[in-house]
Amino acid sequence: MIDFPPNTLRDLRVSYDLDNLTEDKAPADPQVLFQAWLEDALSHKLPEPNAMTLGTIGLDGAPTARTVLLKGLDDQGFHFYTNYESRKGQEIASNPAASAVFLWTQRHHQVSIRGVIEKLPPAEAESYFASRPRGHQIGAWVSEQSQVIPGREWLETRQLEMEARFADKEIPCPPFWGGYALKPTQIEFWQGRVSRLHDRLRYTRVGGVWKIDRLSP
Ligand SMILES: Cc1cc2nc3c(=O)[nH]c(=O)nc-3n(C[C@H](O)[C@H](O)[C@H](O)COP(=O)(O)O)c2cc1C
Repeated sequence: MIDFPPNTLRDLRVSYDLDNLTEDKAPADPQVLFQAWLEDALSHKLPEPNAMTLGTIGLDGAPTARTVLLKGLDDQGFHFYTNYESRKGQEIASNPAASAVFLWTQRHHQVSIRGVIEKLPPAEAESYFASRPRGHQIGAWVSEQSQVIPGREWLETRQLEMEARFADKEIPCPPFWGGYALKPTQIEFWQGRVSRLHDRLRYTRVGGVWKIDRLSP
């Protein structure tokens, strides 16, 4: 087994003692609690507090996970933007069931979401795309996301081509790029507690209302 230096991993652990999550702190709507935890992460200046690990189901039936950035939250769910032809785009097209995990480790908070993904309307992608820095807009046109490419040079050559193509022009949103919303059917809030006896409250959407269960840690 690889270890560095000996026993480092074995002895690496944190005591979770910042707070609790009791039923009286659980609002009827889980998005209200999510927003409170996200605001908590923002106010503590955690790095990339809107990063979430997105799990999708691969074309071969095996799971795939990667990080994306949360860019909005409403009745449709948790919004993110990407290349529709990427691996995740193809996987979502074939099976829209997905999960997402937010980890705010310094706050001893984890939120796990299960649900179904739908595309956002093109107008939302266009509006968000227009707000992105120009370099990121060029990057979206350059990247055939998730495809095998011959090397770094291929990217840099295409970057120069796209910069020339759009020189002195507004850069439009690529037709292959846009947003998705993960609409939750289940959201679990995990609050780290001492002795590994954590609080876990799971919201499940049943008949139009959210049912709350406490899970064993
Ligand atoms: C912090 C962080 C944020 C990221 N945000 C996004 C994002 O919002 N959209 C995106 O397409 N890729 C994002 N990525 C890159 C993805 O993790 C991933 O490499 C890429 O989307 C290709 O995934 P796929 O091949 O499974 O489709 C991010 C990566 C990191 C580390």
